[in-house]
Amino acid sequence: MKILCVGDVVSAVGREMLFKYIDDMKYQKGVDMCIVNGENATHGRGMARSAYNELVRAGADVITMGNHTWDCKEISAIMRKEDNVIRPANYNKACPGEGSLVYTAKNGVKVGVVNLIGRTFLEYQQDSPFDKAEEEIAKLKEKTNIIIVDFHAEATSEKLAMGFFLDGKVSAVFGTHTHVQTADEMILPGGTGYITDLGMTGVSLSILGRGITPIVERFRTGMPQKFDLAAGSGQFCGCIFDIDESSGKCVGTERIFIRDKSYSE
Ligand SMILES: [Fe+2]
Ligand SMILES: [Fe+2]
Repeated sequence: MKILCVGDVVSAVGREMLFKYIDDMKYQKGVDMCIVNGENATHGRGMARSAYNELVRAGADVITMGNHTWDCKEISAIMRKEDNVIRPANYNKACPGEGSLVYTAKNGVKVGVVNLIGRTFLEYQQDSPFDKAEEEIAKLKEKTNIIIVDFHAEATSEKLAMGFFLDGKVSAVFGTHTHVQTADEMILPGGTGYITDLGMTGVSLSILGRGITPIVERFRTGMPQKFDLAAGSGQFCGCIFDIDESSGKCVGTERIFIRDKSYSE
């Protein structure tokens, strides 16, 4: 079966990209299930109810979050009511929501999804994502042998470490958070699909989805700036993992990077 994973969706342009491309992927590429990182879906910070509804209408089957999980206060109610949104599993157990779930894909196959957050160069020290990964995987293995992990982390080294740590134990590990896609999609020796970062789904000519000038000024002068969202044409970033249903192993990867307008000419 094919599972499409889509990287950090930023604001209205990102949401439009989902409407434009997820259906195509489902019907033309035979995608059975779609996982979307929604931590930036509302104005780049968090996911409100209206954005959640749009993501689901656009074809997101499961939504994962990250360091912006709590930025929209509606998220706690969404997680209480909806069964297809998860937040990092290694957040404190007092936090609302769950860190993993089992979703039944349209082909009837059960897929476990785990969300984790890294500890390197991120604001808060969470519980170990590695120990938590093992715990969540043990729980999910009782229900399915197909498990996909979204590791929301800054450091490429921490993400690679997670990939190798989980190699042979899960079907795929993909990274989110940096908003810049890496070209290292691969199948690790134990049969786990891997990519360090899916990239961002949002405005192409931007700095991680925000307008360029204030960010350049911030870096140049060190002075605080108001970071507005960027405007312009969009891009769609993700990766399709082809999973053998009987073994749970990854048998193919296809990195997706679509820019609605080419800037290379
Ligand atoms: Fe993000
Ligand atoms: Fe993030």
